[in-house]
Amino acid sequence: MALSAADRALVRALWKKLGSNVGVYAAEALERTFLAFPSTKTYFAHLDLSPGSAQLKAHGQKVADALTLAVEQLDGPPGALAALSDLHAHKLRVDPASFQLLGHCLLVTLARHFPGDFSPALHASLDKFLSHVISALASGYR
Ligand code: HEM
Repeated sequence: MALSAADRALVRALWKKLGSNVGVYAAEALERTFLAFPSTKTYFAHLDLSPGSAQLKAHGQKVADALTLAVEQLDGPPGALAALSDLHAHKLRVDPASFQLLGHCLLVTLARHFPGDFSPALHASLDKFLSHVISALASGYR
């Protein structure tokens, strides 16, 4: 479902609040994904993704930067994540169903850290934003 102007404004306002900590929340979301859905760990066997590890933090920052780019380009044409989609589809060969799992864990992480902001409207807007990111990432699976 497309994001309305109101959805975009809510997502942008939350992102502003996250400031330079997006990477910290993305790392927590990754940690939750690996614990709640252990099969997702199989793609990362070459990295030390134990809680608090330097590699988990570094990977969290990479995911965060991609999400921030998606927020910044919400008004522009889709395609910001095209290269990343290609990477996950053809090089990393990640099952696209697992994007939903990380998206879910991102939502839980943000709800936990920003309970006062997490109105039903923000929840719905973030859901739409994450669906937008997930469908962009899944678009290269052709
Ligand atoms: C790498 C973003 C979901 C597996 C990456 C990179 C980014 C990224 C930015 C680094 C690319 C580079 O170095 O050029 C995202 C985003 C996701 C997502 C925004 C969804 C919101 C997933 C999921 C999995 C996955 C669900 C697997 C369960 C990987 C792997 C790498 C990677 C294995 C390579 C790690 C390495 O060797 O450093 N991802 N990703 N990604 N991603 Fe994702």
